Amino acid sequence: MKNIKNKLFSKEPVEIGPESGYDNYIMAIESSCDETACAIVKNGREVIANVVASQIKTHAQFGGVIPEIAAREHLDSINIVIDEAFKQAGDLKPEDITAFAGTVGPGLVGCLLVGLNATKTLALTYDKPFIGVNHLNAHLCGNYIDTDLKPPYMALLVSGGHTQIIDVKSYSEQEILGETIDDAVGEAYDKVARLIGLPYPGGPRLDKLAQEGNPKAFKLPEGKVDGYNFSFSGLKTAVLRLVKSFDGQELPVNDICASFQETVSSTLLKKVKKALEEKGYKQVVIAGGVAANSEIRKKIFNLENEGYKVFAPPMKYCTDNAAMVASCAYFNTNTFDDVNTEVFSRVKC
Ligand code: KG4
Ligand code: ZN
Repeated sequence: MKNIKNKLFSKEPVEIGPESGYDNYIMAIESSCDETACAIVKNGREVIANVVASQIKTHAQFGGVIPEIAAREHLDSINIVIDEAFKQAGDLKPEDITAFAGTVGPGLVGCLLVGLNATKTLALTYDKPFIGVNHLNAHLCGNYIDTDLKPPYMALLVSGGHTQIIDVKSYSEQEILGETIDDAVGEAYDKVARLIGLPYPGGPRLDKLAQEGNPKAFKLPEGKVDGYNFSFSGLKTAVLRLVKSFDGQELPVNDICASFQETVSSTLLKKVKKALEEKGYKQVVIAGGVAANSEIRKKIFNLENEGYKVFAPPMKYCTDNAAMVASCAYFNTNTFDDVNTEVFSRVKC
């Protein structure tokens, strides 16, 4: 199907995507949370430039992301990451860009506004199409970078705000089969990390300590939810009880981390396998910040021994980045064309 986008001023039609018959260079901007990122991607899969300015150090002192501070930092970094992306792209000039894409949501509104307004300004200045991108779809599209992945496939999307199993039927057609009914996986990681006294960002730190611990040290409960849905709040409460049971004595931190990680990763694996079997798919992808987790990756990659083809973005395309946004715009995965599209904070279908 043809994917026609109009240039903003001249309204000249531009065909975008795999069927356009020429090389597309999409510049994308991502600013939904605490990374200011800009990338240029050729034909949805080849990264020409990839720049990420992380705010982790700023927010670490507060134990989490402070939205107002994050928005201000995006303002400070946005022009720098755009300039740096063009530097990395060598001879490629703004005029050579096929379209400008930016994350519309979900995310922190003040943060999204900075990146999206920069995107719209670039599209208006250079008279190119504007493409608005959903951050969650962008995470899935991180799997198209440097691979030959094509739908259909089953996707496990695990981030700080979401936990979903998605049936990706085509580049633009998806069905959410199940999701968390309470905490997202990343949220559970961050909360448990805080419970046991780990500094922000908790998820990756917990992952590291888990690798030194015994995953069978403590039996923790898996959330019992029907179908493809998940629940992680009971598990979090179980860890809280476990911590309290030590009554101030030194915690076996590594063992607690390993046992928690084992419970989470087994739950995710079970539901992914169930979805693969029921739909008869042979390809599975993982995406989102938590797809960087060592044990979740290991368990999902073990499916290769059962004949499945497994995709997971390399670490730099797992956590927030703009290359995945550019790829999402190229493959037209539920994008927004209207330059008046407003940012949104929560999932919008
Ligand atoms: O996708 P992402 O960068 O931001 C959004 O939520 O959109 O994901 C961030 C989440 C955080 O909760 C962070 O703790 C978690 O991903 N995370 C991890 C790991 N790396 C990042 N959780 C567990 N293990 C990791 N290695
Ligand atoms: Zn994200």
